[in-house]
Amino acid sequence: MRNTCFKTPINSYWVTKYFMSKPPIRIAITGAAGQIGYSLLFRIASGAAFGPDQPVILHLIEIPDEKAMAALNGVCMELDDCAFPLLKGLVPTSNLDEGFKGVNWALLVGAVPRKAGMERKDLLGINGKIFTGQGNAIAKNAASDIRVLVVGNPCNTNSLIAANNAPGVPKNRFFAMTALDENRAKTQLAQKASVDVTAVTNLAIWGNHSATMYPDFFNTKINGRPVPEVISHREWLEKDFIATVQQRGAAIIKARGLSSAASAANAACNTVYKLTHPTPAGDWFSVGVHSDGSYGIEKGLIFSYPIRSNGKDFEIVQGVPLNDFSKAKIAATEAELKEEKSLVGDLLPK
Ligand code: NAD
Ligand code: LMR
Repeated sequence: MRNTCFKTPINSYWVTKYFMSKPPIRIAITGAAGQIGYSLLFRIASGAAFGPDQPVILHLIEIPDEKAMAALNGVCMELDDCAFPLLKGLVPTSNLDEGFKGVNWALLVGAVPRKAGMERKDLLGINGKIFTGQGNAIAKNAASDIRVLVVGNPCNTNSLIAANNAPGVPKNRFFAMTALDENRAKTQLAQKASVDVTAVTNLAIWGNHSATMYPDFFNTKINGRPVPEVISHREWLEKDFIATVQQRGAAIIKARGLSSAASAANAACNTVYKLTHPTPAGDWFSVGVHSDGSYGIEKGLIFSYPIRSNGKDFEIVQGVPLNDFSKAKIAATEAELKEEKSLVGDLLPK
């Protein structure tokens, strides 16, 4: 059975010619020896983020610390030991210029995770400054088509810092990850409605990746029908569902003693895949992007919206109806992002 396909003309020559003829792209990943890195690198190298026909060269960036670099060396050994067909090179480094040299994508994961009892914005004082130097090094070294996804928390405001410290790089190349929240919300709704998770579409997370994020269930669909038509338990939707999604990160930390890692890596792959492939007709997905003022949100904030991609460029979906409940939730998460921005004023060049 296993060899059946090799009896057809589709032998390894043709597989190589048609599926692997693209030139490799360069991907920088910071925090490469950390928890998320340990899942993320292997998923990217196996094609889960950029597609099964896209070869990659991974630039793995860590802090200049003996223990971190030794761990990174071990990760590189394991990547070698996977013999991934798509993996065309590794550049392990603690030098930002080398790390971001010629890269087409930068996944900024390296940052301190929060501990139980903290909010993500409590990390701004420790993590915020990481993104000034990285933004600068990206502007100086990256390829002209660079796109940057920030995962390290608080990811919206860290992305804002990176974007504002990367002169010459268009602001719409900077993203903050809210796909994990979207995935969490989809699963909660699917379980409540006893449907497969693939039945849930059009789920937008609005605003900040924080306890104020708003998972908009009004415009989400289950098998093409609005969620409130399928799940009639309105109190559950308005209270339990939203709170569960908002607090899921804290619940994982409580359960594991460590913040989410494999699911975060999965969400990073989902985000990159969705930004680099056309969005299915009628659907949308969530990612924090540079606000252009859509829906009255302050311009320049990194705000999670419903997004569509044509595989190259993205757009903020316009005309999504928002009732008073949704407007109030969106106003609260915008207010928090404005507050975070004011806390990092010294990291944002005038
Ligand atoms: P971790 O502590 O296991 O790993 C972080 C790694 O980053 C470490 O290896 C550390 O040496 C490295 N690092 C720290 N500063 C760096 C720098 N300036 N340059 C390069 N590397 C650096 O943490 P983790 O569990 O992998 O989480 C990483 C970050 O991702 C945390 O801030 C966490 O809160 C965040 N996170 C975000 C989401 C999201 O949905 N946006 C989900 C999960 C985790
Ligand atoms: C998450 O949502 O799991 C991450 O942002 C980690 C955290 O601090 O909650």
